[in-house]
Amino acid sequence: SHSHGDVRRQERARRVLVFPLPFQGHINPMLQLADVLHGRGLAVTVLHTQFNALDPALHPEFTFVAVPDGIPADVAASGSIIPIILAMNAAMEASSAVHDVLASVLADDGQPPAACMFIDANLLAVQKAASALGLPTMVLRTGSAACFSCFLAYPMLHHNGYLPPKESQLYTPVKELPPLRVRDLFVTSSSDHEMVRKVLSRASETVRNSSGLVVNTFDALEAAELDRIRRELDVPVVLAAGPLHKLSSRSTGSSLLREDRSCMEWLDKQAVGSVLYVSFGSLASMDGAELCEVAWGLADSGQPFLWVVRRDLVRGSDGPGLPEGFDRAVEGRGKVIPWAPQQEVLAHFAVGGFWTHNGWNSTLEGVGEGLPMICMPHFADQMMNTRYVEAVWGVGFELEGKKERNKIAKAIQKLMNEREGELAREKARELKKKVAACLESGGSSMLAIDKLVEHISSL
Ligand code: UDX
Repeated sequence: SHSHGDVRRQERARRVLVFPLPFQGHINPMLQLADVLHGRGLAVTVLHTQFNALDPALHPEFTFVAVPDGIPADVAASGSIIPIILAMNAAMEASSAVHDVLASVLADDGQPPAACMFIDANLLAVQKAASALGLPTMVLRTGSAACFSCFLAYPMLHHNGYLPPKESQLYTPVKELPPLRVRDLFVTSSSDHEMVRKVLSRASETVRNSSGLVVNTFDALEAAELDRIRRELDVPVVLAAGPLHKLSSRSTGSSLLREDRSCMEWLDKQAVGSVLYVSFGSLASMDGAELCEVAWGLADSGQPFLWVVRRDLVRGSDGPGLPEGFDRAVEGRGKVIPWAPQQEVLAHFAVGGFWTHNGWNSTLEGVGEGLPMICMPHFADQMMNTRYVEAVWGVGFELEGKKERNKIAKAIQKLMNEREGELAREKARELKKKVAACLESGGSSMLAIDKLVEHISSL
């Protein structure tokens, strides 16, 4: 008689390891990819840091291994992604912890042999440890193809004088990477620029050292940008295998925060296409005055809305701190929750628009449901994603500058009830059809997954 473990071992000839960067926007697509590969008969071992540790109980089909990350407590507490990436890599490079964990994972003969490890591009230290053990790495880029193409172009952008960014040139077009402008190139304060430059260059190095690149996008969305990457990079495969959340059979189960599902019943009671869903992702923050303007903008718009206010959305406070009288003003029409089952919300019949910070996952999730967007990018790749939403795909528009209640209320009206919003909605519906096409059998992303599985067996 066979134990369950024996049966699994017989069925699954090979194993892949996956190691996401420990942030929500990076964890989700990595676990979605893991789920797709598991569905194709591969065993999966998930390596994860102690920082933002994952809950193995949510994925009984995977094996989980915790890795010491060495992130100093004060850096971890800052929540700032760029310093955390650098500190984590530095600590991992200074110790043998990753190497030792990997060595013991590879030596576990109760598991099928590992073909390769999928890593986030921000984990160069992990790539090096794998390489020292002879384990090939594959990179999952969790951002857009345009974004990675921009990483690769960073030295050129410096050489050609666009970077470091000058305040007076933020709207200068970057003719080498249309339709981007200087402000869309990952610009931060000039004091942080060297840090950003270092992180992007290390991400490119991680990919160059790897046996392939998977980008969470699809051919019809970013054909020219994917071509640019393929021309620049000399790695065995560059595959556009997204949107991964649509390929994965389980869309939930990787949230670091508890999802408030009460919003689903609330949505059931709203009219078709009437609700604006508002979320600024997992990291963006604002000050109390800005929160107040957003709140009154939503109230004054007269539109039904579902708004995600994370506990840490407002800098330096614990708890939402919504303005006095707001609850009464929006009673029955607006709902505020700390964290949403976002993919389900976006797919709900009642949702007709998305006010987003344009993190890449949120952008793809909005595109996948054919929703027009109001864009309010905060940092990193978000400005670039907004630029594509507005100038390339035409599925939304940016709410630029200072957050101010009248401006916000007008933008909401424009998106939900006026001609400009209607045009964006039509384009979004067209784009949704292209998403469906790439996911059909014989569609570009399905073919990319076939190729990926073949590539994994060849490693
Ligand atoms: C952002 C970036 O844009 C990313 O590229 C960068 O590296 C890190 O910061 P994030 O703010 O997490 O990422 O946004 P996004 O990429 O949109 O990912 C957020 C994820 O959380 C999405 O998958 C979304 O569905 C999910 N989410 C968000 C919820 O499940 N519930 C919510 O209430 C809000």
